[in-house]
Order: sequence, then C-alpha cells, then structure tokens
Amino acid sequence: MQISGSVALVTGANRGLGRAYARELVRRGAAKVYGAARNPAAVTEPGVVPVALDITDASQVAAAAARCADVTLLVNNAGVMKASTFIGPPDPDAARQEMAVNYFGTLSMCRAFAPVLASGGGAIVNMLSVASFYTNPFTASYGASKAAAWSLTNGLRVELHHQGTLVVAVHAAFIDTDMAAGLDVPKVSPEAVVQQAFDAVEAGQIEVLADERSRFVKASLSRDHELIYPPVQEFWDGAISG
Ligand SMILES: NC(=O)c1ccc[n+]([C@@H]2O[C@H](COP(=O)([O-])OP(=O)(O)OC[C@H]3O[C@@H](n4cnc5c(N)ncnc54)[C@H](OP(=O)(O)O)[C@@H]3O)[C@@H](O)[C@H]2O)c1
Repeated sequence: MQISGSVALVTGANRGLGRAYARELVRRGAAKVYGAARNPAAVTEPGVVPVALDITDASQVAAAAARCADVTLLVNNAGVMKASTFIGPPDPDAARQEMAVNYFGTLSMCRAFAPVLASGGGAIVNMLSVASFYTNPFTASYGASKAAAWSLTNGLRVELHHQGTLVVAVHAAFIDTDMAAGLDVPKVSPEAVVQQAFDAVEAGQIEVLADERSRFVKASLSRDHELIYPPVQEFWDGAISG
C-alpha cells in the first residue's frame, strides 16, 4: 500500500521513534495522521492529530478504534523497557509491565483495529526488537515481551491474510531515543528505522531488519546456541563478576 493518501495511527507518538513515525507519515503525504499518546498534549508534531490513548486501557483502546474508524495503517510503536533480569528484581513487576504494554497492549490494539482495517486491507506495523530473537540478561524480561509480540505478529499475519491486511514486523537493536539513552553502544537513528518500515509497507514486505545486529542475529537463529549465546554469556559473567 502507499503511504500517500493513507490514514495512519501511531501509538506513543509523543516522543522517540513514535514521533519520527508520525513525522515521516506526514512527509510521505498521509491524508491523516493520528498521534496517540497517554498525554495527547505532548503530541506537537505539525499535521498530527492528537488522540488520548494508553494501550493497556481497554476502554481507551475501544474509544480510539471508534473515533479513528477511518484508519488504514496502524503503527504499534508504544513500548517500555525496564532493564530487568529474570532472577534479580525483588518481584516480577517490571516483567508484568513490559508484558502489559509490549504484548497485551499491542494485542489489544490489533484486535480493536483489525475490523477497522477489514474493508480496505490496509497494514499493521509492529515495532519489535532484536530482543524478539534472543535473550540478553540486561533486558531479559523485555526480550520475553518482544518475543511474545513477535509471535503475535506472525500469527496475526496468518489470521488477517483473508482480509488482505499486510502485517510488518520491524526489528532493531539500539535506536537513538530515550529508551537507549545513556547506553554507549552503536545506535541506529529513528529516521533510518521509520524509512525502512514505510519502504517495507509500500513494497508489501513483511519484515524489516533495521540494522546490522538484527540482520546478524536473525541469520544466526538456526545456530543460536553456538553463535549468539556464548558471547552473551561471557559478557554477562564479566559484568556480574567485575
Ligand atoms: N530505543 C531502542 O533502543 C529500541 C530498540 C528496538 C525497539 N524499540 C522499540 O521501539 C518502540 C519505541 O521506543 P522508543 O525507543 O521510542 O522508546 P521511548 O523513547 O521510551 O518511547 C516509548 C513510547 O511509548 C509510549 N508508551 C509507553 N507505555 C505506553 C502505554 N501504556 N500506552 C501508550 N503509550 C505508551 C511512551 O509514552 P510516554 O511518553 O507516555 O511514556 C513513549 O511515547 C518501542 O516499542 C520499543 O520497544 C526501541
């Protein structure tokens, strides 16, 4: 599908990658761009229509689907990362919050907007991560939530095939936003990620591996215990002993 003339909704459009998604939609000539955010007053991108939306709140999700019933392109961007190991934290609250937003929130949005998209097919872009593919102890419970969201994305594609909805999975390692602030690691720009995501939508492509790390990890999955986990284990052992 073409972005030009589409009606799009981006979750978490107030900052970071979501803001970049919204800006690029306007730049590519979307007919309307809804910028959804928990605080809609923070959606200040020119040409973007603010919508109040916490994706973990079922009534707000239903209200957004009713209000934005002309949407043809849904960008599920909102997410949280609590930098939480599985064993370390005193309780599993971080893991619950990540699952609530990254998996159940995204699921809830897909369920609410699938009927909205049904008439014209349209597209759903799910913002995933390289952590969908493997577990890094530093972000372990986040990885579990993104693996769940990856599974959701693959299943959704099958379930929505009959109505012609394109479902695009976007994976990246570190992106230069608040979420990765303070980490001294190579980062891809938000603009580079959104360009690839919308190029994929326009080309009918179902997966975006937005950086070198994502491409390497995905390509290594058939030998993950040999290629991915030993260096991660070594790094982690160094981190906890030193
Ligand atoms: N940055 C990275 O390194 C990286 C790498 C791979 C994938 N990703 C993914 O990219 C997406 C965007 O992340 P980002 O880098 O832009 O992070 P960010 O700067 O922390 O922004 C996260 C966005 O999600 C919103 N959000 C969080 N919980 C929400 C909820 N319950 N309902 C609605 N909105 C909610 C935030 O809104 P508030 O302002 O209200 O908190 C904010 O707009 C996420 O799905 C993230 O997992 C990020």
